[in-house]
Amino acid sequence: MKTIGIVTGGGDAPGLNAVIRAAVKTAVGEYGLHVVGIEDSFEGLLGETRVRELKPADVRGLLPRGGTILGTRNRGRFVVREEDGSSSKPDEVYGEALGNLSRLGIDALVAVGGEGTLAIAYEFHRRGFPVVGVPKTIDNDLAATELTFGFMTALDIATEALDRLHTTAESHDRVMILEVMGRHAGWIALHSGVSGGADVILIPEIPFSAGQVARKIRQREACGSQFTIIVVSEGAKEVEGHEVYQDQGDKQSAPRLGGIGHHLSGELSEMTGKEVRCVVLGHLQRGGSPNAFDRMLATNFGSAAVRALARGKRGVMVGLHAANVRTAPLEEAIANLKTVPPESQLVRTARDVGVSFGAPDEDKYHHAEGCDQ
Ligand code: F6P
Repeated sequence: MKTIGIVTGGGDAPGLNAVIRAAVKTAVGEYGLHVVGIEDSFEGLLGETRVRELKPADVRGLLPRGGTILGTRNRGRFVVREEDGSSSKPDEVYGEALGNLSRLGIDALVAVGGEGTLAIAYEFHRRGFPVVGVPKTIDNDLAATELTFGFMTALDIATEALDRLHTTAESHDRVMILEVMGRHAGWIALHSGVSGGADVILIPEIPFSAGQVARKIRQREACGSQFTIIVVSEGAKEVEGHEVYQDQGDKQSAPRLGGIGHHLSGELSEMTGKEVRCVVLGHLQRGGSPNAFDRMLATNFGSAAVRALARGKRGVMVGLHAANVRTAPLEEAIANLKTVPPESQLVRTARDVGVSFGAPDEDKYHHAEGCDQ
């Protein structure tokens, strides 16, 4: 192995550039390899290829920089969505990309991304090309790793938003809803809700009843708190309801979630007569500089991915396991999303400190009498 390629895919996340920097420094400095950056995700391997050599001088100053210097795109060519909801991975597209990899002299790939990107990376592996994956997503919903980089930064931003909403909510006696990302998993909402002291946390894994949320608002009022803070995952849904979408997507893009916060806002103001405001945090959670933890994790992942390739590992993903970076089969990482177990310890803790998840049977989890919580 003389030359490795590095590719970043899917939505960006703080720490992508830190991975690139660590991978380049390790590959060149420790193993004497060449590194080629592939631009615009796997798309850069099709048609007129878009690649550039990355030397240590090219990655100087990248550690704190948000986004990805390689760009990230998804034109849906590597995984084609069919009308009936199924998907296919066209031979001619992979054939063209593999041909270009060989023409460019790239012997192996470090693929940095979430579930979608790693599923494409796995397909390259299945077709005989050496690949090691690096788990990225602010949603933290990838299996085979305890954490993905980007998540801790998103958590800081969501927590700060909750802190700021607290003071204005209290001053105006309002209900404030913060809608956060997390397509099918409530990790950002759960963790920021606990660290930002939300009164209600709504996540996809625990369908909620708006009536229960209204009840919590009234209970708080009866106990002297005229304001309520709610954090809701974009993918949360009401019992017997469905997720709220901004648009349904098309052949190239997945449906886009968003709008549950505003929807709930209407319901709650009608039910409680209170002023309810909704803030959608959106891409502020993804842009900008990674925090200290994500810089460290991304660096650790980037180096470990190159070490794994150099040691002959193939078709694996680096991941965090009990504070150490180890590899696991890519297949395991993409098999299922890692969602919040509804009976997990942090959910229990949140309920113990008085948080409502708006579940229809929420009362069975709260034993305090009167205003004790
Ligand atoms: O997967 C990360 C994520 O941030 C999701 O939480 C969110 O639904 C999605 O990306 C938004 O993606 P886009 O920027 O393509 O709209």
